Amino acid sequence: MTTTVTASDNLTTPARLRSAELEQQLARTPERFRVLTGDRPTGALHLGHYFGTLHNRVRLQDLGVEVFVLVADYQVLTDRDIAERLPEYVDGLVLDHLAIGIDPTRTTIFNHSAVPALNQLMLPFLSLVSVAELGRNPTVKDEIAHSRQSSVSGLMYTYPVHQAADILFCKGNLVPVGQDQLPHLEVTRTVARRFNERYGAVFPEPDALLSDAPLLLGTDGTKMSKSRANSIALSADADETARLIKGAKTDSERHITYDPEGRPGVSGLVLLAALCLDRDPHGLAEEIGNGGAAVLKRTVTEAVNTRMAPIRARRAEYAKDMAYVRSVLSAGNERAREIAERTLDEVREAMGGLR
Ligand code: TRP
Repeated sequence: MTTTVTASDNLTTPARLRSAELEQQLARTPERFRVLTGDRPTGALHLGHYFGTLHNRVRLQDLGVEVFVLVADYQVLTDRDIAERLPEYVDGLVLDHLAIGIDPTRTTIFNHSAVPALNQLMLPFLSLVSVAELGRNPTVKDEIAHSRQSSVSGLMYTYPVHQAADILFCKGNLVPVGQDQLPHLEVTRTVARRFNERYGAVFPEPDALLSDAPLLLGTDGTKMSKSRANSIALSADADETARLIKGAKTDSERHITYDPEGRPGVSGLVLLAALCLDRDPHGLAEEIGNGGAAVLKRTVTEAVNTRMAPIRARRAEYAKDMAYVRSVLSAGNERAREIAERTLDEVREAMGGLR
């Protein structure tokens, strides 16, 4: 996989060093890890998700790590009043995971709202954090600033604690995250540590596994995002992909270079092609050079369509049998419920007298 180091990346931060150490342990003793990761079902997963996290999930699964994939349906309500089109997005998330190679006999896919005992863990967990701590969380502050609601709901304010329940219900000890999720993981670690100190050792203190995936830009030169109409969905077909890339923003300079700061539009396209082709973006840009935007766009379209063809074919195949796709989620929910109930029993026992 191509790694792009930019000036703002600090490869020696403690979190990065720890992640490198964890990668070595993963290769040696994958069975010691239980990974919990998840997405909010707020839209179709896109190529930014694929290169950022999804294909890492398959890698971890194939290393022999036990992986839990959460469809965070309750979290959809953090920044909107209604969960519009939820069933469609949930189906889509499960389909996407099957299409990229998640194997439901090894990996558990489940959704929040189907696992009551997981959600119940939020009550004791809320008692372990202060309101001031919740208010200081930079990622929550940022999400509040960008929220589409006029006031901040209690669920928005407390969702890092909910996320602690997501991770700790199955005693997940490794959480693949981007930099922006680190404050949440800190809350999970704090909850686990305080619970263990107060009531006895029940929970692991999970580690973050930072991904080295570069940020993929959308067709408008800003971060590829479900909500910005600038993304290429995993479920898009070859024609739609061609159309989206054709409409992507470039600039008036003919010669193609890879310069993410100075030329976000062009560089986003170069990076996308480079990721699909497993190549270095600088070399690829140089090769296109005076071919300009036309050659660049042709290269990107071909690269995306070739790389995604097998995934799209599998997705279409699974989509013919939605009864099977839904049975994958119900089986995952069954398993998650058993685990959550066992953990909740332990919690009640440790806290003494709760039923
Ligand atoms: N907050 C994550 C997001 O918005 C989704 C999520 C919910 C999650 N619970 C989680 C991620 C637990 C990792 C672990 O994408």
